[in-house]
Amino acid sequence: MKFQGVKIAGTGSYVPEKVLTNDDLSKIVDTSDEWIVTRTGIKERHIAEDDQFTSDLSSEAALKAIASAGITVEELQLIIVATLTPDKTFPNTASLVQKKIGAVNAACFSLEAGCTGFVYGLEVGAGMIGSGLYKNILVIGAEKLSSVVDWTDRTTCVLFGDGAGAAVLTATEVENNAYLGSDLGSSGEQHDILHIPAGGCAIPFSQKVVDEKLNTLQMNGKEVFKHAVKGMSNSATKALEEANLTVDDIDWVVAHQANVRIINAVGQKLNVPSEKVYINVDRFGNTSAASVPIAFDEMIQKGLVKRGQKVLFVAFGGGLTWGANIIEY
Ligand code: UT7
Repeated sequence: MKFQGVKIAGTGSYVPEKVLTNDDLSKIVDTSDEWIVTRTGIKERHIAEDDQFTSDLSSEAALKAIASAGITVEELQLIIVATLTPDKTFPNTASLVQKKIGAVNAACFSLEAGCTGFVYGLEVGAGMIGSGLYKNILVIGAEKLSSVVDWTDRTTCVLFGDGAGAAVLTATEVENNAYLGSDLGSSGEQHDILHIPAGGCAIPFSQKVVDEKLNTLQMNGKEVFKHAVKGMSNSATKALEEANLTVDDIDWVVAHQANVRIINAVGQKLNVPSEKVYINVDRFGNTSAASVPIAFDEMIQKGLVKRGQKVLFVAFGGGLTWGANIIEY
């Protein structure tokens, strides 16, 4: 083994075609476009078809990322899928993606760190390449949150959407390393302020689970909001320290797209000018582990992020978990 540098060679993203607007939602639950926009900044979100799963969304994003990285699927040595909505509890969703895209030489596993999943995935992938063990790793953040939302609960169902984003990490010379710093953390004390209570071994599926909707996402929004702002700003600050950079060195902040108020509060705490903070939560809602890679890929497609620029990813989610990575694109 010989230490290697790491870079993001390519990205891709995919959202399902079907769009659900706030007005559509106001026909299902007692809500309004005005409430949702004012409290969250969300205007619409994309919703997968019944027969379209997290592995399908992942595969679409993956193929685009592989093409943009200029490698073949056979060159992939590892696929990591970060998700809280796997196709099945077992086996892992990454193996299903492998099958769908034909990445026959890849090892596969999924990673569960809630909305922070992609940021965790980048850290794992970067560590595995940096150590010299791997050359090409595909990291995907993907969710079909519409499958775990309680569509009668207006406090949660208006927030979430489906989609996937992916990045191919490749090895480079150590002196060209583009993974500049990071920070990951968790506080299991608050694991039940944002969770899906049943479906695991603690509360296996039963009629009671279905009757009481314990298989749907449940959240204490106010508590999560507070922890989100604190968790993301602290984590970003630690990652900057580790990278020996200041916020002025950063060209773009790509924060987890949960709520525009949370993103703005984090930007203000970090003292980042608002034009450096990307926002697309208005069009996609909260896509959990997919939100950071969808936003990043969209920025690249629009020509906003250019090679050589420094980008700070920061996210927060159930666990609780939080994390930040700083890369040079
Ligand atoms: O990825 C991480 C996962 N989650 C998050 O990041 C979410 C973090 N939390 C939030 O974004 C916000 O807390 C929410 C958007 C979820 C809620 O915003 P809020 O400003 O904290 O509102 P609230 O929960 O205090 O609710 C205010 C009022 C309540 O009515 P009363 O008690 O004042 O009469 C709610 O019942 O708004 C009501 N309400 C709604 N009204 C219309 C709650 N949801 C809705 C709704 N439409 N969809």
